[in-house]
Formats: sequence, structure tokens, C-alpha cells
Amino acid sequence: MNFYLSTFISGFENLIFDIIKKDIKDINVILLLDGMIAYKTDTQILEIQRIRYFNNSFLILKKKTFKSPICEDVLNEFITEINNNDIQLKNYSLPDSKYFRVLFSIENKLVSADRSVIHEIVEKIKKLTKKQYSYKNTGAEFWFFIRREQVAFWALRITNNKKKTLRGELRPELTHLLCRLSEPKEMDIFLDPFCGTGTIPLERSRISKFNIIFACDTSRNLTDKLKDIVAKTKNKKLKRSFMIKNRDFFNNGFENNFIDVIATDPPWGIYQQIEDNFYQKFIDECHRILKKGGRLVVLVSRDNFFPEETKNGFAMDSRYNILVSGKKAEVFVFIKNG
Ligand SMILES: C[S@@+](CC[C@H](N)C(=O)[O-])C[C@H]1O[C@@H](n2cnc3c(N)ncnc32)[C@H](O)[C@@H]1O
Repeated sequence: MNFYLSTFISGFENLIFDIIKKDIKDINVILLLDGMIAYKTDTQILEIQRIRYFNNSFLILKKKTFKSPICEDVLNEFITEINNNDIQLKNYSLPDSKYFRVLFSIENKLVSADRSVIHEIVEKIKKLTKKQYSYKNTGAEFWFFIRREQVAFWALRITNNKKKTLRGELRPELTHLLCRLSEPKEMDIFLDPFCGTGTIPLERSRISKFNIIFACDTSRNLTDKLKDIVAKTKNKKLKRSFMIKNRDFFNNGFENNFIDVIATDPPWGIYQQIEDNFYQKFIDECHRILKKGGRLVVLVSRDNFFPEETKNGFAMDSRYNILVSGKKAEVFVFIKNG
């Protein structure tokens, strides 16, 4: 079995645990920590690389538990324990680049290590891989992960997740999880009423079959760009059933009880001012257009509290405290009552 470590958005631990058990049938979860999961499976590396809700994935080459609190000695001791077998891989070839680097993560934070501390391991890798050490150039990446839970990993990075996002655009790892929280079904009429660049509805279209996807926004510039993207696709279903509307959500024209799922990222009041009662109006409108039992998945700033009255029309299914671009955010999943 391969031993993997994957990182994900902190705060989604329970969700990741549920999803990965569905996606990887033979999974043996060894450790689930804040923003990180270590697991064993026969699943091939290529399949792990394709998982869209992970920030990055690694092949674990060595795991160590320690008793003392995190300190330099823990790291130094671990470095000296790395032997040739923990560097030479039988079933995975390193990237073609002639370079490699060694990185250190303590408690999910990248830290720099003294060159003299890493000298020993760098020399071992050089000898075995015939590659050159370079911090700047991209190539093979060997990582030390040290956690306060008194566990450390030596691992090789197998993904290269560098997708850049535009201002206000959500990352694919997050849009994927928002869509998974909507529990996608084949007959879904799905709506993102504040679609912006379209990251959420486009991700939904990639996940599984759907009936209709509506992507709406008041910005004509953004809806036109999204129309261009859809016009260029070869996917006939997307061309036919992905409806992009330049619409104000509060004058949306949808009939009562029409939509199965709303998954959305409404304005937070940062780049664009919102009215004081914006969230109350938002909840009321979602309630009107959703079918009974319909799901509402919504990403909001933690400053934007949902009004108490929400509870009358919806049952709260789950909530997750996360950070989005360093800002405190919360994801709510509501289900419409009768
Ligand atoms: C936070 S952004 C959404 C970003 C999007 N999730 C993405 O990844 O690009 C909120 C969007 O809501 C739109 N918006 C603001 N008020 C609206 C309204 N009343 N009806 C529809 N769209 C609105 C804005 O134009 C903006 O694109």
C-alpha cells in the first residue's frame, strides 16, 4: 500500500474524512489533523494527484513519533534518521528537473532551516539522485512536516498546485468542497446567484451529471466572460444546460419552489457595499425559490451573521469555520423546511 499525506483547507477535517472514505474505498486513515490527512491505500499516485479538494499531496517516506515538545533537537534527530531507502523510490520517478529542495513545515507553516542543519540530508539526496540542491529552482521537493501532536513526516511532494486566482475568485479546492456539500444529484437544478467568475457552477458541472445549472450575477462583464468560457467548451451538455443570466438576485424571476440546490459566495461587503438587511433578504429569497428539502450552501465572512429568523425556514445541517485568503469565513449548510 502507498502511504500518502494530503493537505486541505483547515476547518474541513470532518468533511474531508467523510468524502475521502466515499472516494477511496480501501482507505485506511492513519491520522487526521488540522488541515492534514495521512492515509494508506492501493490507489495509484496518478489518481491521488487528480483529487481536487486537496491543496497538495505527498508520498510519505518516513513517519516518526516523538515525546518531547517541538524543538530543534526533534528535527535534527529526525534528519539524521533519514537513510538511503527513505530517499530512493521504487515506484515513482522524480520530476525531470535537475534540481531538488528540502522544505520544513511546522504546524502548517513553512519555516526556514539553517543550511548547516540540512547539510547532511542535502548531501545524501545529491549522491542518490544526482540532482543539484537549489531553493529557488523548481524540481523534486522533499518535505519535513513536524506537528504539535508529536508526529513528524518525511515526504515527497507529488502535486504541483500552483493555480493563480483573480481577486475575489475562489480556489478550486474550496469550490469543490462547497459543491460536495450540496450533495450533487443527477436531476439537480443548481443555482449560484452571485457567480462572479463562475468558479462554483463550473466546478459543479465537472463533478457529476446535473439537470440545469444557473449562474447569475449583476456584473455584465463577469457574465459575458463566463458566456465566452462556456461557448468555447466542446461539452454539449454544458452548452445546452448551463444558463448564464445577468440578473439581480432580488429580482431573479425564478418561480417559488423551483431550485434544488443553491451553492454560493455572496458579496462580503469588502469590495462592494451591501445593505444592512442584505443577508435577511438573501435568506428570504433562497427560501422562496428552493424546493422543500432543498439545500443552501453559503460561504460568508464570519462578521456577517445569519439572522435568528433563518432557523424558522431552514434547519442547519452543518457549519465550518475556515480562512479564505487569510480572512475569517464560515460555510453554512441549510436545508429548507416545509
Ligand atoms: C464574492 S463575489 C463571488 C465570487 C465568485 N464566487 C468567484 O469565485 O468569482 C460576489 C458576486 O456577487 C455579485 N453581486 C452583488 N450583488 C448582487 C446581486 N444583488 N445579485 C446578483 N449578483 C450580485 C457581484 O457582482 C460579485 O461578482
